[in-house]
Amino acid sequence: MTVGIDLIHFSTSDYFLGLDTYAKEKSVDLDKFHIGIGQEKMSIAPPDEDIITLAAKAADPILAQINKDEITAVLFATESGIDQSKSAGAFLHGLLQLPNRCRTVEFKHACYAGTAALQMATKMVTANPKEKILVIAADIAKYDIDSSGEATQGCGAVAMLITENPRILSIEPGSGYYTEDVNDFWRPNHRETALVDGKYSTKVYLSSLKHAWDNFVEETGRNFYDIDAFCYHIPFSRMTEKAHKTLIKKVGAKIDDATFKLQTEAGQVYNRIVGNSYSASLYIGFCSFLDNANASLEGKRFGFFSYGSGCVAEFFTGIIQPGYQDLLMADSHRQQIESRQELNYQQYLAFYHSGDTTKENVNYPATNHGKYRLKGIEHHIRQYEKKD
Ligand code: HMG
Repeated sequence: MTVGIDLIHFSTSDYFLGLDTYAKEKSVDLDKFHIGIGQEKMSIAPPDEDIITLAAKAADPILAQINKDEITAVLFATESGIDQSKSAGAFLHGLLQLPNRCRTVEFKHACYAGTAALQMATKMVTANPKEKILVIAADIAKYDIDSSGEATQGCGAVAMLITENPRILSIEPGSGYYTEDVNDFWRPNHRETALVDGKYSTKVYLSSLKHAWDNFVEETGRNFYDIDAFCYHIPFSRMTEKAHKTLIKKVGAKIDDATFKLQTEAGQVYNRIVGNSYSASLYIGFCSFLDNANASLEGKRFGFFSYGSGCVAEFFTGIIQPGYQDLLMADSHRQQIESRQELNYQQYLAFYHSGDTTKENVNYPATNHGKYRLKGIEHHIRQYEKKD
């Protein structure tokens, strides 16, 4: 029996800020963003879009294809938590009207949590093949205005259905792990925005990759040449290039530029124009690879490097299943990205400053065009609405 991703779909918000607008506003050379960090646009969430509405938007097309009463668990990964007690999965469970015989729990460790949820779901299905688990990774990446991270903001959610005999990716046993207590990026409870030691964070990311790889090799006996394509966590798309170069140098592999591109490039198309989506980012990169590769990936082994600041990292692999192309939701992904409305800098600032969720009662204007919306807050309780 194999276990892994049977269906996968992602969502992003209805608005973006172009890094051309941003560069002009900050009087910075645009090439710093387009070339230096490899980013063009950032998806920006309006006040009535949060991780729950993004998650619902991501899960909706998956639920439309299955009997949702068969879902046995929702594992919701996020570092943009909306409640210190009630899990994001419980809000989503209500909004999507999932069955009561289903448990929900929230997973947290920075951008790594999506992988923690995916691997936990894989183990649960392996133990009981009757389980069908909805894994969600959803985040809104928000940094202080004028901080180094501001240009890497973004948002998105990924929904993945984890089952036995999956039709898209079977996840292989054997992972490499690396954990170390470091302060490269963190968000204390009282803050809406993350704090980051930017350059240090890229160093820790790359050293974690080397450690996780060593552990992966020890655990599985596989080598670099056993893997056809690589998906790395993408805080900004240039990080993929840095990561792949680091791995190649570490293992002493000899590959030409064309192979380098084949192994990594298709995975960056969406992230370059969505921005960082923390826990979802690696899996939006995977969707990007599946949707944008120009040859069939059937039977190919993918390597995944998941990194969460703080830090926890994992390297694992999976095999693309025959017929996977029939299951892809590339049209929906592209349509969402292409139909986003561009913000000018003042509109971006207005969204940035308007999402105050500390008040007891708030009403949000209808700005999010999707089917699911955060209507407001009543007596400190979030109120969602579903448009039919
Ligand atoms: P910075 O310090 O403002 O930028 O921000 P810089 O001066 O280092 O420039 C960036 C690159 O652009 C450099 O290239 C420059 O040379 C180049 P590099 O040295 O990297 O090869 N450059 C230009 N290129 C062409 N034309 C030009 C030009 N000007 C400059 N005119 C930094 C960079 C990454 C620090 C910033 O974006 C940041 O703080 N980002 C947030 C943190 C982050 O994304 N870290 C990544 C690793 S940690 C991680 O991935 C986890 C995370 O997702 C959180 C989680 O786990 O939850 C963040």
